[in-house]
This record gives sequence, C-alpha cells and structure tokens, in this order.
Amino acid sequence: MNGEPETLSAFGRRPATPRRALEQAAGALSRAGIESARLDAEALLAHVLGVTRERLYLDYDAPLAADRQERFLSLIARRCRGEPVAYLTGRREFWSLDFLVTPAVLVPRPDTELLVETAVGLIGEAPTLELGFKILELGTGSGAIAVSLAKEKPAAEIWATDISPAALEVARTNASRHGVAHKIHFCAGDLFEAVAYLTGRRGFFQMIVSNPPYVRSEEFDRLPRDVRDFEPRVALDGGPDGLDFYRRIVRAGRLYLASSGLVLFEIGEDMADEVVRLFTDAGCFTLARVYRDYSGRDRVVSARKLP
Ligand SMILES: C[S@@+](CC[C@H](N)C(=O)[O-])C[C@H]1O[C@@H](n2cnc3c(N)ncnc32)[C@H](O)[C@@H]1O
Repeated sequence: MNGEPETLSAFGRRPATPRRALEQAAGALSRAGIESARLDAEALLAHVLGVTRERLYLDYDAPLAADRQERFLSLIARRCRGEPVAYLTGRREFWSLDFLVTPAVLVPRPDTELLVETAVGLIGEAPTLELGFKILELGTGSGAIAVSLAKEKPAAEIWATDISPAALEVARTNASRHGVAHKIHFCAGDLFEAVAYLTGRRGFFQMIVSNPPYVRSEEFDRLPRDVRDFEPRVALDGGPDGLDFYRRIVRAGRLYLASSGLVLFEIGEDMADEVVRLFTDAGCFTLARVYRDYSGRDRVVSARKLP
C-alpha cells in the first residue's frame, strides 16, 4: 500500500506538540502498514529534535517549531513508503555501540549480536590470544561485527573485507568513531580476493567470521518491502539455495585458517543442517556446533579446522 496520500491528509492540520505529532504520525504509519508505528514515530521525532525518546515525554505538550514539524513530516512520509528508520536517522545501535548506517550497508540486526557473543566466547578459550589473534571478517558492511570484536578483544588484529567500497567507507567511519581504526585492516574485494596479498602466508587467521548474504534468490521478491526495496541486494542474495557464500568460504577458508582455527557463520534459521553438512563434507573441519538465538532459532554455526 502506498502510504503517501493518507500521510499527507493525516497531517492536514499540522501537529503543534510532540503529543499531537506522535499521535498523528503513528496513525499514518499504522495505516501505511508499518507494524512498529508508534516506536518509529518516536525514534524519528527524537532524531529531529536531537533528544532521546524518553526526553520527548518531558516536553510532551510544548510547542513544536515549524521547521521541526516540516522535517518530521517529511521523514514520516518516507517511512510510510517503507524506508527503514535507520536510513532516515543514519544510525543504529549494535552491541551497545552507535553505528553510522547508510543505504550502502545492511542495517545491523540484533540477531547478529549472537555471532559476536559466540566469537568473543570462543576467542576467550583460545590460548594464543596474547601472541596476536588474527580475525578475518568477510562481508563487513557497516563494520558492526569487526568493530564490536575490536572493542571486546583489544589484543586481536582484524581484517574486515567487503565487495562494496561504499560499505567499507561506512565501516571505516564506524571504526574511527569507536577508536579501533588502528586495529582493523579494511580490504575491498570478492571474498578472499580482498586478502589475496596474504596468500604467501597460509594458515594466517585464527578465526574467520561472516554474516554473508543468505536469502534464496527466488525469495528475494517476497522479503518485506523495507528490506527488498531499500537494503542493498548484494548484502542479501545468497544465490539459488542461499548457500553460495557458505560453500565458497568453507572451500577456500581452509587455506587461510591456522591449524585448529575457527569459522563462525550467521545462518538463516532453516540452514543449520545444510551448513553443518558443508563442513562435514569438506573433510577438514571438526566440532561443528549450532547456536540458537533468544527466540530459539538456529542462528550461528561454528566449526574448527582439524589440527
Ligand atoms: C548480510 S550483509 C552483512 C553485513 C554486516 N557484516 C552485518 O552483519 O551487519 C553481507 C555483506 O557482504 C557483502 N558482500 C556481498 N558479496 C560479497 C562478496 N562477494 N565478497 C565480499 N563481500 C560481499 C555485502 O556488501 C554486505 O556488506
């Protein structure tokens, strides 16, 4: 449903206070089919006013300046058309850190925090950390995973790659914003091509981590419109069965992994068996494990390269 005409008519009488602005915006968003209407309206008004969402309620009935009303209306109209809130505000929280987000990158998802949590736990068990633990992230996007790992594990050295130079720029900005740019090497290229300059050094990394594109190509058109029409297809499309990237990473990863090195993937919730099988069939991995997220869905798979 195209929300614009409804939105504009809903705002025929201009809201004069946060209370009225939020009520009218939430109504318009909800009529446009946005499930998180009230929450989104609050996030956008807080963004326009440069305050926290909680703060909105302290000045709930204070007058809203005309220029703020205009700006809020234009963001609500864009949200009604499906544009994600994170692209409208330019930010998203991940791992309790504030990340710059642009349409060049996938909006980091809370689900992906399980990948960071699992990686942090497994690195904690590694005896070689003090010698310099080297991590390769394939498909870094906003840099959410690489930056979070760099913050959690200051002794680790990280290579963050992406095929999209525009995404890498966002990741670089986020690394600087969080003071870890000196711990991360940013490299552009198609998966391992980005670190091809290291091929003379087989077994270089103790860990490879990736949240690769894993939507099945034929399912792409059925994604929610916020995702399908606004997030980069290159960040989502995992080929006909969604497994293209897992296959390629498992196949080539062994060359780049140190003995007993780890691979960690985020997976689609129905992909655990197939991804575990990829590791088993490769013949050089052991201890494939599946981790569930807080909703009980399979979300992360890890495996260890045989010594
Ligand atoms: C699902 S997104 C993950 C982004 C980020 N790591 C996160 O978890 O929010 C996948 C990322 O892989 C990148 N990508 C897609 N194809 C790639 C390729 N062939 N080589 C390297 N990166 C690729 C996309 O640009 C995108 O940033």
